[in-house]
Amino acid sequence: MVFRLKVREAFRATRVLLARINATVQETVVGMKVVQLFARERRNQRDFERLNAEHRDAWQQSIFYDAGLFSVVELATGVVAALVIWKASGHATAGTIYLFLRYMQLFFMPLRDLSAKYSVMQSAMASIERIFQLLDTKPAIEDPVSVPAPRADAQSTGEVVFENVWFAYQGEDWVLRDVSFRVAGGERAAFVGATGAGKTTIIKLLTRLYEIDRGRILLDGVDIRQIPQATLRQRVGTVLQDVFLFSGSIEDNLSLGRTDLDPGTLQRAARAVEADRFISALPDGYATEVRERGTNLSAGQRQLLSFARALAHGADVLVLDEATSSIDTETEALVQRGIHVLMEDKTALVIAHRLSTIEDVDRIYVLHHGRVAESGSHEELLAAEGLYHRLYRLQYAEEASAA
Ligand SMILES: Nc1ncnc2c1ncn2[C@@H]1O[C@H](COP(=O)(O)OP(=O)(O)OP(=O)(O)O)[C@@H](O)[C@H]1O
Ligand SMILES: [Mg+2]
Repeated sequence: MVFRLKVREAFRATRVLLARINATVQETVVGMKVVQLFARERRNQRDFERLNAEHRDAWQQSIFYDAGLFSVVELATGVVAALVIWKASGHATAGTIYLFLRYMQLFFMPLRDLSAKYSVMQSAMASIERIFQLLDTKPAIEDPVSVPAPRADAQSTGEVVFENVWFAYQGEDWVLRDVSFRVAGGERAAFVGATGAGKTTIIKLLTRLYEIDRGRILLDGVDIRQIPQATLRQRVGTVLQDVFLFSGSIEDNLSLGRTDLDPGTLQRAARAVEADRFISALPDGYATEVRERGTNLSAGQRQLLSFARALAHGADVLVLDEATSSIDTETEALVQRGIHVLMEDKTALVIAHRLSTIEDVDRIYVLHHGRVAESGSHEELLAAEGLYHRLYRLQYAEEASAA
């Protein structure tokens, strides 16, 4: 019992430390450029060595107990043998004593085997505990048990409604407070606001990556909690702020494994958002290998690919989180045209950092500290001389001084 408790504890520690070593190595390799640019090699190496030493010590601890159990069993074998010889000498023949010792060894053999296997088993149990912990994690967001049949008069126009939505990532740290807006089918709405105002959060909630705390989000009049997640995400096409590309070909990255999207559809989508030009210029065209996270493509190229991806997947609501990374003016023009093609005949929610890109949308919402502080068209908001006016003036001044 003592052994079991002690050795299990030691094995648990080795598992935790091994996981931490793996995470550290992965992070360091991925962030290699930053490590090198900030001359952090030595610091990172020291961090690694410290973790590595902790891991070694934990292993040593488990080996100590393992060896301990083995020694105890060996010792018991020896002591019993000594007792047998001591008690039996003078009373029994050499043959009887020999027989007795053999029997005794046969008795202890399974115990010794068992003790050897026992620590292997404890090691496995420590791993199993961690695996089960993960497997037992309940998904925080579940599909509806029964999907209500669509109403006869229901139309899929792509209307998006936020009704008094409150949301916090943690506890009562409200990121969105009582946010309400309605984007009619086919309309374009833009969201602006300072960094950290909660713009990206609106996308995460609409696609139900997080569950809202209060209020309702409706897509075509249906609460999104009543829509299976796969259906919801098929209807809402998203272009994220930071584009994620997988290793594989350009084509794989456009289809993302959807076999019903043939190369023709993918290429049409790429052509529409003007991504076709740079793809054709690549050595293997659409079959060109994208390296992990798309490191062999430029930021603008990655963005164009993400537009083509969203277009090819054919959603009827489009959510676009504009990237802040600056791109050259030519690519910028390409990206702008790509955005316009993407938004055609769709309900579009655009999160804009450059106000020049959203002057022609139907309605602009200004987020401030998690609330919708202002809304209206570009002209209305400028005339109101509020937050939007200030943001606009600031950017205008910036652009003027840059020019
Ligand atoms: N996963 C998360 N867990 C906890 N807090 C988060 C998480 N994601 C965002 N936040 C917090 O929520 C707030 C809103 O973040 P959000 O990403 O929506 O900002 P944003 O308006 O998109 O900003 P930006 O213009 O920089 O993209 C921030 O204060 C941020 O710190
Ligand atoms: Mg954001």
